[in-house]
Amino acid sequence: MNRILHFGLVFLIFTSLGAQEKHPGKPKMWWKETVFYQIYMPSYADSNADGYGDFNGITSKLDYLHSLGVKGIWLTPFLKSPKVDNGYDVADYYQIDPVYGTRLDFDRFLKEAHNRGIKVIMDMVLNHTSTDSEWFRQSRQSKDNPYRDYYIWKDKPNNWESFFGGTAWEKDAASGQYYYHKFDTRMADLNWSNPKVVAEIQDVLRFWLQAGVDGFRLDVINFLTTDGILSDNPINKGKQDHAFDIDQPGVTSAIKIIRKTVDAVPGRFLVGEVGSDKIEILKRYQSAELLDVVFNFNFGSIAEFSPERIFSEIKRMDAEMPGYPTLFFGSHDMSRLMDRLADGNPERALALAAITLTAKGVPFVYFGEEIGMRNITAASVSEMIDVQGRTQYKLAIESGKTPDEALRIANSHNRDKSRSPMQWNASGFAGFSAAKSWIKMHPDYRNVNVETSLSDKESIWHGYQKLIAIRNAEKALQYGDYKHLDYRDGMLSFEREFESDQIVVTINFGKPIKLAVPQKCRVLFGDPSVVPTNGLLIYKRLN
Ligand code: NOJ
Repeated sequence: MNRILHFGLVFLIFTSLGAQEKHPGKPKMWWKETVFYQIYMPSYADSNADGYGDFNGITSKLDYLHSLGVKGIWLTPFLKSPKVDNGYDVADYYQIDPVYGTRLDFDRFLKEAHNRGIKVIMDMVLNHTSTDSEWFRQSRQSKDNPYRDYYIWKDKPNNWESFFGGTAWEKDAASGQYYYHKFDTRMADLNWSNPKVVAEIQDVLRFWLQAGVDGFRLDVINFLTTDGILSDNPINKGKQDHAFDIDQPGVTSAIKIIRKTVDAVPGRFLVGEVGSDKIEILKRYQSAELLDVVFNFNFGSIAEFSPERIFSEIKRMDAEMPGYPTLFFGSHDMSRLMDRLADGNPERALALAAITLTAKGVPFVYFGEEIGMRNITAASVSEMIDVQGRTQYKLAIESGKTPDEALRIANSHNRDKSRSPMQWNASGFAGFSAAKSWIKMHPDYRNVNVETSLSDKESIWHGYQKLIAIRNAEKALQYGDYKHLDYRDGMLSFEREFESDQIVVTINFGKPIKLAVPQKCRVLFGDPSVVPTNGLLIYKRLN
């Protein structure tokens, strides 16, 4: 009996070692095989003609997303909120905001997404809540209210500044104390040093895991205030250096608790928004005990088109990140890829997207990129909706700038840019809604829309679809390491290898070039006889 047990154990160890050797350091994870698509909730599809996107609208577009090939959706916040910051100000962690529908609508959406093999991750804002939240209402009632310590109160503010501009402290008339807010005054920071807050948040996470979400995108997760509150931030050349208000020592322990809570349901994914573009900082938060991946702003928020810079960031991420990086060029906080990097050129936009879909990392497509949507700009402050843009306008006026100067400054911070509604067709409200949308449409919607993109075989939509299909099919693009990674004369090239699969990718921003493809290969994308400027070539070695 004992011998059988012993043999069984040895067999188990032997086989599991074998499995490890086969995929050294590469456990199969669904999110490594997934192209994610970010949906900005208010702007995707409106089913009930109130000018706001909603769950039923998104559900009606799941076949579209399935045909594009995406396997994961990141939904921006949809919980009950006064929407000072479009849902990043949560008033109730357990309720769906009625503008997006009901809990039944959400459940149906989730089920339909899962039926199509699409996972759904939910944006979780844990750094702060809306001041409309019941926790905050209680907290502000009196110094001895049981919820007082859910937030951060002080008799005298320190010098910390809000990330939207101005002081981060707001005086509350009732007690004469100040509460802390890293963002708008109506978004009060939770006190992560209070175990009760931690326990509440664990319950929130459990609730949504139970509802069936596949993971979370954790908003500004390195910003949690856990300690450091007694120190002023140093000022460097007139600008505040965020030395004590972010990346505080206790943040790591807080994320560990989040990870453990989420791991109670196996296979759930955590992607963190770590507010930094420095790899040294980003990588601190990526490990088995912390986050699966973080948003690589060192790559994603590159300000100008520079293939050299893109290449060097890919190289650094490969050398320095402990796990997978993320690959994206757009989000609801950034200027759109088509304007910021592609200068309105669809071929270049597709070539840039090809990098995110073939290099090593987890790709995120921002909604509308696949049809080449562009930025909107506010012609006047009255047109500006974003709280960050409006705050910057107010501060500029207060500091004596003229309205024109203030508008220019505000527009450079205004995140409405990339938030205009999805352009489905050329009809009145672009097929987004049967009514005027909450934010203005981009005027190019009559030409740039899903319907025209689908009917034009040369559109970038078809390029995206083909690239996503290749990524979905090829394990080397999901799991492969770089065999080589090179850059020359505007041309990025790399080979990725996984087990016996090898894929060679060339993305050419330089002069048109003829490339030689070895004999035993299958071309998956492009034409080797000429790879034009902004063109690409992908082939697979056949062994
Ligand atoms: C990051 C989000 O992406 C942004 O939109 C929001 O304003 C801040 N976090 C505050 O929650």
